Amino acid sequence: MRRPRSVLITGASSGIGRALALAYAEEGTHLALIGRDETRLAETAAAVATKGAIAKPVSLDVRDRDTMNAWITSADAQHPFDLVIANAGITTGLAPDALAEDPLAVRAIMATNLIGVLNTVEPLITPMSERGHGQIAFIGSIAGLRGLHHSPAYCMTKAAVHAYADSLRGRLERRGLCVSLAIVGFVKTPLNDSITAMKPLEISDRRAAEIIKNGLAHGKATIAFPWPLYAAAWLGRALPARLYDKIMARIDANVPETKERVP
Ligand SMILES: NC(=O)c1ccc[n+]([C@@H]2O[C@H](COP(=O)([O-])OP(=O)(O)OC[C@H]3O[C@@H](n4cnc5c(N)ncnc54)[C@H](OP(=O)(O)O)[C@@H]3O)[C@@H](O)[C@H]2O)c1
Repeated sequence: MRRPRSVLITGASSGIGRALALAYAEEGTHLALIGRDETRLAETAAAVATKGAIAKPVSLDVRDRDTMNAWITSADAQHPFDLVIANAGITTGLAPDALAEDPLAVRAIMATNLIGVLNTVEPLITPMSERGHGQIAFIGSIAGLRGLHHSPAYCMTKAAVHAYADSLRGRLERRGLCVSLAIVGFVKTPLNDSITAMKPLEISDRRAAEIIKNGLAHGKATIAFPWPLYAAAWLGRALPARLYDKIMARIDANVPETKERVP
């Protein structure tokens, strides 16, 4: 893949998105950085600017389809994107003694992790296809490979993102685009810090960004890491459901319910 000169990253105000912005910050690269927190976004923009990149931070809510569409379309007209990374996301979980998640929390995570992803990539599918060039990257999760008892709605959103990326790839790649899915393990970020659980093979956001960037540069369809956790998750997928449930029941994890609500 040629080096991207114009990159759109959502969730650039924190964690993996911020680290990706820094990883792509090179002399002359245009970086459109979406998030909500203006202060943290400005910090990311200032950091990438010191590396010679031209940062365009914008406080946008990925759940707002009209505003996302208008802003992305206009930014694409100025500096056509050759890479978009749909990264913004939240998490939510089910308390150990609860049976089901609050329906409002479930709708909230669907709005960000699913609708927000659509709002990010949909405006670019047609223009990128017309140019016959561009890369669409989705940030998925190992939690999207098989349901986790402590985080049903999060797993649902990530499984849906995986299926969406897989479904888009064939047709768009015939039009010259590249579609990539990162299947990410534990990465030390504020999102991950909110979770109490064993976090085997946790890595830094900087390392995660390096791995994702390298995989995207090679045009990989799937960028899954760390591989031992990915392999274990694949083994988990192969287990009969009731055996999987028994193993899962022994895993202690506490993922707090999101405070986000659909606006
Ligand atoms: N960390 C992990 O272990 C891990 C593992 C697997 C997958 N992932 C995935 O990686 C992605 C990034 O997560 P992270 O760990 O880096 O989390 P993080 O540090 O909490 O960052 C999340 C980012 O998403 C943005 N965001 C959330 N809701 C938004 C909204 N409605 N509109 C615009 N931006 C919004 C946040 O922006 P504001 O704060 O400015 O609103 C923030 O920049 C997520 O999709 C997550 O599911 C993370």
